[in-house]
Amino acid sequence: MNELDALIEEKTGLTIEQAMRIDKVNLYKKLGEETFWKLSKTFYTKVFNDEEEPWFKNIFKNRSMEEAIENQAEFFMQRMGGPAYFTKRKGHPALMGRHMNFNMAEKAAERWLFHMKASIAETPEIDEDSASRMMDYFTHTAYFLSIGVSKQQGMKRGE
Ligand code: HEM
Repeated sequence: MNELDALIEEKTGLTIEQAMRIDKVNLYKKLGEETFWKLSKTFYTKVFNDEEEPWFKNIFKNRSMEEAIENQAEFFMQRMGGPAYFTKRKGHPALMGRHMNFNMAEKAAERWLFHMKASIAETPEIDEDSASRMMDYFTHTAYFLSIGVSKQQGMKRGE
């Protein structure tokens, strides 16, 4: 196991195998495109209107909500067994690089997951088994990005 995966497991209790359960079922086929669009719309509506934690909403302040929805929905569909929508439009997902300029502290990962969990709960088209696979993958990826990006940002500052 690599060092980053070990750290993620320590923090979240999730192994990489658990997180990759999204690949054992084609969730794109199972849930359909409408469900992914609905999920991303619900998620970003919550994020852009997060009055309880305005510092979190501020991470997204220079972005367009419409584009953010499109980016996320296309990435999720691609990652969960659908056509390469994201890559066709924007190139390799390279998630770590695309998050390099944002506040990716652990607190931000937790808030991201809080909104995603609530959004999944508000999307009845997502059955329990799919929801559990998706949340494990999202949790693992959120911590992967948080730890990985924070490390790179620290290296840039010469820490
Ligand atoms: C610490 C938690 C996270 C924060 C603070 C965060 C923040 C952001 C921000 C500010 C954007 C720019 C919005 C846009 O213009 O599209 C973004 C884009 C994106 N995020 Fe995250 N994110 C987090 C976690 C995640 C996770 C867990 C995933 C995937 C499972 C993800 C996937 C994406 C994708 C695909 C994009 C679009 C990138 C692009 O098109 O350039 N993010 N994120």
